[in-house]
Amino acid sequence: MEELGISESVEKVLISQDDLQRRIRELGQEISYDYAGKTPLFVGILKGAFIFLSDLIRNISIPCHLDFMQVSSYGGGTDSSGIVKILKDLDISVEGRNVIIVEDIVDTGITMKHLLELLSARKPASLSVCTLLDKKERREVDVDLDYVGFEIPNAFVVGYGLDYAEYYRNLPFIGVLRPSVYETR
Ligand code: PRP
Repeated sequence: MEELGISESVEKVLISQDDLQRRIRELGQEISYDYAGKTPLFVGILKGAFIFLSDLIRNISIPCHLDFMQVSSYGGGTDSSGIVKILKDLDISVEGRNVIIVEDIVDTGITMKHLLELLSARKPASLSVCTLLDKKERREVDVDLDYVGFEIPNAFVVGYGLDYAEYYRNLPFIGVLRPSVYETR
């Protein structure tokens, strides 16, 4: 697959760069306030969360640590397989730490449920979730989300870290992919 031009592949901008930055500033302030006096460990879930996490921690005003995990629940297409694999585990131990999982999107909730089970078994002092996007309509399993950037409708979104077939992660905004891009495949 070749990436099409942005105007041919993106139907509309759902969340602009300015709106992303404004909301991420608020989330950073809220988390900094809630974790004052602690040194939270931010766990970014690769690959999608890398841009959100990098902007989020620049809005954190308290000491913090950072690590990454990579899990995979999707193949190359648009539907969840329901299978969650650990592709990269953490380097830092979470035991006794105040852990904040950072995701780009919670969709069916299957990935987050699995991550919460996995990390809570490692005895953190606390475990919370910060997701940029919450696609509530698609939820299949219940998960508690502590910090949510934006609740979004059930559309195929790309950009700001989110991909379709590994393309579009570099778009500086969240856009809706034209159905023709994935329907013709
Ligand atoms: C996306 C996203 C979450 C997961 C959410 O990752 O980053 O990890 O899907 O879906 P769910 O709530 O239905 O489980 P993806 O597997 O596409 O990998 P990527 O972040 O590397 O693009």
